[in-house]
This record gives sequence, structure tokens and C-alpha cells, in this order.
Amino acid sequence: MAKHTKTTNIANTPNTVKTARIISVASQKGGVGKTATVTNMAVGLVSLGYKTAIIDMDAQGHIAFSFGIKKIDLKKTIFDVLIGEAKMKDIKQNAFGVDLYLSNNSLSDLSPKVMAHLNSKQFPAPKYLLKNAIGQIKTQYDYILIDTSPSNDIPTMNSLLASTDIIIPVLPEGLSIDGIYDTLFLIKSIQEQGAKVNILGLLPTMVQDHTNLHHVMLQELRKRFAETPDIKVFDTIIKRAIRHGLAQSNGEPDIKNAPEYLSFVKEVFAIA
Ligand SMILES: Nc1ncnc2c1ncn2[C@@H]1O[C@H](COP(=O)(O)OP(=O)(O)OP(=O)(O)O)[C@@H](O)[C@H]1O
Ligand SMILES: [Mg+2]
Repeated sequence: MAKHTKTTNIANTPNTVKTARIISVASQKGGVGKTATVTNMAVGLVSLGYKTAIIDMDAQGHIAFSFGIKKIDLKKTIFDVLIGEAKMKDIKQNAFGVDLYLSNNSLSDLSPKVMAHLNSKQFPAPKYLLKNAIGQIKTQYDYILIDTSPSNDIPTMNSLLASTDIIIPVLPEGLSIDGIYDTLFLIKSIQEQGAKVNILGLLPTMVQDHTNLHHVMLQELRKRFAETPDIKVFDTIIKRAIRHGLAQSNGEPDIKNAPEYLSFVKEVFAIA
């Protein structure tokens, strides 16, 4: 893996070809903070000087919302790129310093479209459409973050197969902890298909550390995964705080309102 230098340095370094780390934030459980994690990690990385992009692979289109963009106004989206009717550069937007490759409801047409053309020449590798699309942009970025939906559909398969790394957000509550195993199972199946994708770890989100339940479940989570050294539970935890929700609903992400995510990107990428 190429060492990731800040953009300012890279621009001044001859013969340095950047290759982005591509990180899917994934969980088969809904509402665990995937989109909040992608959004805040991206603005955190930008604040540290890293060239960063987000690709929204969830038809809910929540990344647009989080950056104050109306998904209804999007003329072309990642769906058009995946079906070969646009290039990544045609759909690129920038907000708050982050390059955005957005989606909306059209992405839910991808699975039926691909299924209808199975074995045809139109989609010879239907699970690698995103990997090919990222090939158009990966030398432009230090980090590309992918927001995924809580399902194991074609867009999620494409996301995982295009990634170098995966982060799994998890709420320290019983059912959510069980949900991790569905996600790990899906990733294992992806690895068995030959993907060299690395699980960076589990990120506890929306932690109410004043409640006994969360305290106990967090301990239980750390204990459970202490026995599986290849799966790390991050030291950083993201607390449940109204400011995270507010940042998303106002469409104005600001790392000053989510400082835990700045600590998180420093921990996960060992950067300062
Ligand atoms: N740390 C937090 N504290 C409080 N609220 C949060 C936090 N993180 C996210 N939220 C809010 O919780 C809700 C769910 O978060 P988010 O949309 O990030 O989850 P998700 O995993 O992306 O959901 P989905 O599976 O539907 O895509 C949102 O309204 C969001 O603003
Ligand atoms: Mg989401």
C-alpha cells in the first residue's frame, strides 16, 4: 500500500502516483451511523489536507442530503456511470471540500437492470461495475469513502468488491451486535470471491456512555472481538449526540461539531 502523503506534499513530489485507499462503510443493519461516519470522516480528512471523495452507493441518496444538495436536482448520478451512460467526471460535485459522486432512487434500478442482462455483453462483470468506474478517478485521491445500504444487493456487492478496506459501524446494543455477524459473513463471501479487502475494524457509534446497557455492551463487544485478533474494535467511540444528527439534517457537515470523527480518522489511518 502506497504511503498516503498530504495532497500539498504530493503535488510537490515528482514521480509520485497517488492511488486512493478505498473504504466502504458497511453494515447489514440499518440506522447504525454509516452515512454519518462517511460524511464526518470525509470532512475530517479534508481538514487534515487529504484529497477525499465520497461515492454514494445507497439509493436513499443520503450523502446528497448530508451535504445540503437536493437529490431530486441531480441530473446524472452514479447509476448512470455504472450502466455506462456517464463518466465519473460528468457527475462530480464538490461541497465542503469533498468531491461527491452522488446517488438517488435511480440506483435501485441497477439490480433489475443487471439481472435482465445477465450473460449479455452489456454487463460482462456486473459485480465489478464500481471497481471499473473508480479506475477513472483513483489516482486523483488519497481517500475514497463509499456509503453503502443495509442490504446485500448488487450496489453493496459492487462497493465491497471495489474496496481496499471496510469499516463496520456498530451500535452497542444486543441486536446490532448480532448484526455484525451478517456483515462479517457477507465480507467473508466477498473475500472468497478473491477480493483482497481488509476489515479495518468495528466502530462503536451512537454510544450513550451514561447508560448501563451501552457500557456493558461495549465491554462485551471488546471482549468478544479480543478473541478474534484480525477484527479490531476501535478505541475511538462515537457518542450519541444531537449535533451529529443536526449536522446531517442541516446539510452542513462541520468537523468541529464531530471531533470524535477527527480522532477516529487519525486512529484508523495512523495520521496526524
Ligand atoms: N452519533 C450520533 N448521535 C446522534 N444521532 C446520530 C449519530 N450518528 C447518526 N445519527 C443520526 O441517526 C440517524 C441514522 O444515522 P445514519 O443515517 O448515519 O445511519 P445509516 O447506518 O447510514 O442508516 P441507513 O442504514 O438507513 O443508511 C440519522 O438521523 C443521523 O442523523
Ligand atoms: Mg445511510
